[in-house]
Amino acid sequence: MTDKKPFYITTPIYYPSGKLHIGSAYTTIACDVLARYKRLMNHEVFYLTGLDEHGQKIQTKAEEAGITPQTYVDGMASDVKKLWALLDISYDKFIRTTDTYHEEVVAQVFEKLLAQDDIYLGEYSGWYSVSDEEFFTESQLEEVFHDENGKVIGGTAPSGHKVEWVSEESYFLRLGKYADRLLAFYKENPQFIQPNGRLNEMLKNFIEPGLEDLAVSRTTFTWGVKVPSNPKHVVYVWIDALLNYATALGYGQKDSHNFEKFWNQGRVFHMVGKDILRFHSIYWPILLMMLEMKLPERLIAHGWFVMKDGKMSKSKGNVVYPEMLVERYGLDALRYYLMRSLPVGSDGMFTPEDYIGRINYELANDLGNLLNRTIAMINKYFDGQIPDYQAGVTHFDADLEAVVAAQIAEYHVQMEAVDYPRALEAVWTIISRANKYIDETAPWLLAKEDGNKEDLASVMAHLAASLRVVAHLLQPFMMETSNAIMTQLGLEAVADLENLSLAGIPPQTTVISKGQPIFPRLDMEEEIAYIKAEMEAGSAISQEKEWVPEEVELKSEKEEIRFETFDAVEIRVAEVKEVAKVEGSDKLLRFRLDAGDGEDRQILSGIAKFYPNEQELVGKKLQIVANLKPRKMMKKYVSQGMILSAEHGDRLTVLTVDPAVPNGSVIG
Ligand code: ME8
Ligand code: MG
Repeated sequence: MTDKKPFYITTPIYYPSGKLHIGSAYTTIACDVLARYKRLMNHEVFYLTGLDEHGQKIQTKAEEAGITPQTYVDGMASDVKKLWALLDISYDKFIRTTDTYHEEVVAQVFEKLLAQDDIYLGEYSGWYSVSDEEFFTESQLEEVFHDENGKVIGGTAPSGHKVEWVSEESYFLRLGKYADRLLAFYKENPQFIQPNGRLNEMLKNFIEPGLEDLAVSRTTFTWGVKVPSNPKHVVYVWIDALLNYATALGYGQKDSHNFEKFWNQGRVFHMVGKDILRFHSIYWPILLMMLEMKLPERLIAHGWFVMKDGKMSKSKGNVVYPEMLVERYGLDALRYYLMRSLPVGSDGMFTPEDYIGRINYELANDLGNLLNRTIAMINKYFDGQIPDYQAGVTHFDADLEAVVAAQIAEYHVQMEAVDYPRALEAVWTIISRANKYIDETAPWLLAKEDGNKEDLASVMAHLAASLRVVAHLLQPFMMETSNAIMTQLGLEAVADLENLSLAGIPPQTTVISKGQPIFPRLDMEEEIAYIKAEMEAGSAISQEKEWVPEEVELKSEKEEIRFETFDAVEIRVAEVKEVAKVEGSDKLLRFRLDAGDGEDRQILSGIAKFYPNEQELVGKKLQIVANLKPRKMMKKYVSQGMILSAEHGDRLTVLTVDPAVPNGSVIG
């Protein structure tokens, strides 16, 4: 690697219009992996992420919440920063489009483009999707709705979101004028859009039909950067948003040394989802041409994580939030799963089965066992000291060495190509090869004869060396795991990925005396059920409007009472210890209950005909009135309370309580 240019990597800036799910986490982790990789390859790196805080969608969200847009986005920004901290995202800057420095430059740029006639005033009418903050022509709509007379009255965008008819005075950006220059740029830079195939979609859908000028201002809402010379217009949110990549580095500001270093002298990489490629591959380069700025080197467009039943959506109850997965299975499992499972150039499916399966097979089994067995054997056969590495000692060494060297090279190729599934596959090829090497060399047999000591030493040295290589290659993806492997081997944390090879463990390195499993084995069925339940629960607390009760007279059969009257009743949790029919009565059941009194209680209850198999009640926790005056029944039984039940139709059901609640707990 001779090319040590400064490296600039950006995520899209996300709309803070709801809680971020694993989709945005995917892009942010993917950029984090690249930033960490480049740092470990000794590049100077600037990693930018942030929020896209203006626009109609955000204004509406804030109105629904009954707060100002600024208060709304402030709250969201703090939540998003917490999420990135949880995911250990190593960003260098977090930009918010409401930051003053950014707003000022957006306003200046708009005026500059107006002055040089790349922006002009006109009239826009067409379809607008607020959810996507995107304009569409009728032919671009996914679906079109008509009234009885065949008139078009609405439709949906390709994203599935509703569009509305917009007709207003608007400024336009002269895209058409730059179409030829854009095509020439694509031609000279065939690597610009990755994967390559995506360029054709853009050409076919947007450029070949003729590049229309783009409406770049709105007058029907106010939450945005105002056009200084005509402040009833706010700058279209996408122009505002795209400029973040430049303003974050100091473009148009006093201190622009980062812009000089990372933009002008550096390599500029943007990572985006396929849904927003149009903005980044067409509008952004043209804006940069208008501003006579350098164009980015690469635009990496990834596919989407989808669910079995299609796109993630709260109404379907299939949204997965990263917090839940991290809390239960740890951060590294999430980072690994997301980076390993989304193939370059297409969509990938998130399934709970796959999530738990990868943890069990790839992390706990393949990787975890290799580490455990290696640490245990080095302790057993060499008192914990890793024997010195030497190439080609046993009959099996050469092949392992060749595989490791080839896979290190493959890993770097795939990291340069930003193909993480393949890069991780290279790491797992090493892991599998090392596991196979244990079977081939059978160290437990070598250990039986003293004459094999040298071979046994070489096997241990090769295993430790392979694990050290694996820990290095995993460092950008799974920091904790990488650190844990290095610590268990008795080595310092990984700090550099250059010139990596099997050799490199210092003499007299001692592994820890007892290995710690880095990933626990999970119960498949239980955990799959857990994730599914969380997905459904997550959708129930979706961010819908707060419910407000109607002010009507409520229905009740008895007269209204004062709180104190109710509070005089003591209701407690009581567990049924014994129950029996009462001789001479077909109504009564006699209960022995533990209501936390220290002594058991007896209650007679007239519910026998509703519970012909009364023994089913044993062990249930019921609710009883505990301070009713005791009374004698059937001449010989004292009843010390009352069991609560609900009547419905001609049936009756006793009120049970979650078994986790202790006997005697007071209900109120
Ligand atoms: O579009 N799978 O913001 P946004 C993978 N503010 N990635 C996904 C995903 C999924 N299911 N869902 C979302 C915007 N993403 C604009 C961007 S940039 C100048 C302005 C990721 O909050 C993916 O990267 O809608 C997608 O492009 C991004 O989130 C969209 O985020
Ligand atoms: Mg979007």
